[in-house]
Formats: sequence, structure tokens, C-alpha cells
Amino acid sequence: MRIPFPVQIGLSAVAGVVSFVIARAVGEFAVGHIHAIPFALVVLAVVLLVARAAGILFALPVGTAAILAYDWFFLPPFRDLNEAAFTLLGTFLGMAVIVGAVTTETSRRAVEAERARGDMAEVQASLRRLALLIAQGEAPQRVFEAATREVRRHLGSDTAALIRYELDGSATELACDGSNTAAVPPGLIARVRETAHASRLDATAVGVPIVVNGRLWGMFAVGSAVGGLPGDTETRTSDYTELVATAVADAQSRAELISSRARIVAAADEARRRIERDLHDGAQQRLVALALRLRTAAHDGEKSEEVAEIGGDLMTVIEELRELSRGIHPAVLSDNGLRPALRALARRSPLPVEVDVELEHRLPQPVEVGAYYVVSEVLTNAVKHAGAEVVDVWARVQNGSLRIRVHDDGAGGANFSGGTGLLGLKDRIEALGGSFDVSSPAGAGTTVTCRIPL
Ligand SMILES: Nc1ncnc2c1ncn2[C@@H]1O[C@H](COP(=O)(O)OP(=O)(O)O)[C@@H](O)[C@H]1O
Ligand SMILES: [Mg+2]
Repeated sequence: MRIPFPVQIGLSAVAGVVSFVIARAVGEFAVGHIHAIPFALVVLAVVLLVARAAGILFALPVGTAAILAYDWFFLPPFRDLNEAAFTLLGTFLGMAVIVGAVTTETSRRAVEAERARGDMAEVQASLRRLALLIAQGEAPQRVFEAATREVRRHLGSDTAALIRYELDGSATELACDGSNTAAVPPGLIARVRETAHASRLDATAVGVPIVVNGRLWGMFAVGSAVGGLPGDTETRTSDYTELVATAVADAQSRAELISSRARIVAAADEARRRIERDLHDGAQQRLVALALRLRTAAHDGEKSEEVAEIGGDLMTVIEELRELSRGIHPAVLSDNGLRPALRALARRSPLPVEVDVELEHRLPQPVEVGAYYVVSEVLTNAVKHAGAEVVDVWARVQNGSLRIRVHDDGAGGANFSGGTGLLGLKDRIEALGGSFDVSSPAGAGTTVTCRIPL
């Protein structure tokens, strides 16, 4: 327990008086038996002990009083305790207490300032660690856990928890750290939600709101089992709420971006399918009918040979059209899956293509379509731009993702700015939450790597 400072000052004056009385008694008893110098050393040793044990506030009056008593009652000429002596003793003691108090107060301030400086440096370091996590695009849950840990460490509280307010009025605990992980009091959660201000539930729990883009998003709850959360807990916690808000806002805009990209890609796929259907139902059918009519016409008439020839050409056009519409949305992909579709692509390519694809199961449709377009475009590029001799296609499912690598041994120099093909693939794959990279040093071929989470 800490004794209040004014009481300590009073006690130090009392200690001075008591030590005067003791020194006087000992001095009167010892005079004539002990030499002055050893006795003086004993007095100094006692003062030194008091200084170590109780500090300067006590050592100064004790020392002053003891030395006065030593001087007055041990060394001749001896003094009487008359009014003048009392005044002198009182003045000395008063001065000793004042100097002791001022010195103690000053040194305490210095220690506090030093501690505050250390504290601030520690906060800065911990905020920097969190900011780094956010900047590295770390998953929000990881940021939440780290922030909760840092809050608890910073405040030295028993527990810290991060709560998110849901739209349906409930609250979810996203992260919790501490020795005593008791549930956050519902009353505190409700009060912060109502007021959107920091709130305190007696001395054992404090809640601080987290506001994201002007909307109350959640709160930090800090708890202490024995009570005694300091008065500045709210402000010290708010250093962290802003960082969490930044992380949340970041994650939200990233998620929105991904879903809008996904919508764009899905819309484009849908448009392609419509074109395919229209081609199949409309133009293709009419061409077929036209070809049949020509064939019939070829049986009679003078120019029958020429007509038959035109009919033959027409059949080739129909065949090409069919191929074209398959290219737009390959039937083999939806019917048989990715591996047969990739093998079909490889067969159709004018370049030799080594296919090393092992897939045990069918994959979700957007993944199969995405992968198909990657290989299709990259093979086309290898023919169109690379001057390659051979292309390798490799694909596996690893760690919950489809991984694809396509390598050609051509000229290299592929880039995203030269056309729309590679850029479109990057958009498509990233819309699926994956990654798409091109490595294409001049003269060393082109390697496209792609990862699509399943
Ligand atoms: N395999 C490759 N080898 C060499 N250069 C390539 C290769 N693939 C692409 N490129 C270069 O990168 C550019 C961008 O490719 P892409 O986005 O597919 O556009 P496009 O094929 O429509 O020109 C191409 O114009 C070409 O110059
Ligand atoms: Mg291309």
C-alpha cells in the first residue's frame, strides 16, 4: 500500500524528532566511554541505512537531528534544551523535511517522465508492428488478433477482446487475449453500441468504440479482474482503434473490388454463352439448310459441278463456325472436365505441346473455365508471338488451389501492356481470388504461373 505524500512528510518530521531523542539518550549514556570519532561513524552509518531503506525524505531529518544531538550532548560544551535550542532544532528539522520533500518529489517526477517516454516508445513500436501487418495485406483476422494482443500488453490489463457489431443487433467476438478470458459483460457491449462513446463498467471493464468510415463497427473491451483500470485506459486504447478501423476499411474495399471484378467476369462469360447459343440456333442452322438446298440443286441443272463445289465450301465454313463457337465455350470442358479440354487444346495447337496435368476430380466451373482460358490464351500467344519450338503445360491441385504453369521456349518479352489477352486473364484470375504472373525475360522463353483457390 502506498502512503500519501503529505503523510510521508509528517512521518519524516516525526522520525527526525524520534532520532533526536534516541541520539541524545545514547550520546548522554556513551559520553566518556566511547571516543568521538567512532561514535560519529556510527551516526553516519545509521543515516546511510535510513537513506537506503526509506529514502532521502527520511534520511535528511534523521541525520540532521542525530548530528545535532551528537553535537549538543556528546561533544563539549554540552547544551541544555532551552527555548533557543528548541527553536534551532525545529528550524533545522523543518529545513531538512522541506529539502527532503522537494528532492523526493523532483526525483519522482523524473522517474515518471522517464517511464512515460519508455511507454510512448513502446506504443510507437507496437503501432508500427500493426501498421506493417496491415500494409502487407495480412488477413484481417490476423490483424485483429495482433491488435488485441498489443492492446492488452500496452494496458497491462487481464483481458482484451475485439467485438464486432452485426447488423442483426448481435455482437461477435473476433479476438480475445488474456489470462482470464471471461466473457465481455453484455451490458458494456450494449452501452458502447448505444452511445458510440467509450464506456466504463465499474472499475473492472472499459469499452472503446471502433468507427469505420463514419459507422460504428465494433469495440475493444478491456477487463481487469481485481478492478483498478487506470483513468486513461480509454485514451490509451483509442490509439489502437484507429489502426483496426484502417485494417477493416482496407479489407472491405478489397473485398468489394474482388466481388465487382467477379461480377464483370461473370457478365462477360454470360455474354459469350449467349453468342454461342445465337450462333448455334441462328446462323449455323440456316447455313446448314442452305448447304442442303445447294446439294439438291447440284443434281439437276447445267452448272451442277460448280454448285456442288460451292456446297462443299459451305460445309467447310459451317465446320469452321462450329469450331469457332466451341472456342468461345468449349463443350468438351463442360462435358468432360479440365484435363480432356486441355489435351484437346494441345492437339489443336500447331506447336508440339507437352501436357502434364493430373486432376482427380472435377473442379468448380469458374475455376475450370478460368484455367481453360489461361492455357488457351497462353498457347495462342506462344504461336503468335514467341516463335517457340515446344510448350509445356503443367497443372496440379496443391494446398487447396489449382496451380498452372505454362512455359514456352520462345523469344520472351511478354508484357501486360502490349495487348488485352494477358491483362484479361489477370483480371479473370484475380476476380477468383487467385494470382496470375508472367515471367518473360528476353531470349529465355515465357513462363506463366497461375494459382486459383478452390
Ligand atoms: N509467349 C510470348 N512470347 C513472347 N512475347 C509474348 C508472349 N506472349 C505475349 N507476348 C507479348 O506480350 C504482348 C501482350 O500479350 P497479350 O496480352 O496476349 O496481347 P495480344 O496477344 O492480344 O497481342 C503481346 O503483344 C506480345 O508482344
Ligand atoms: Mg494474346
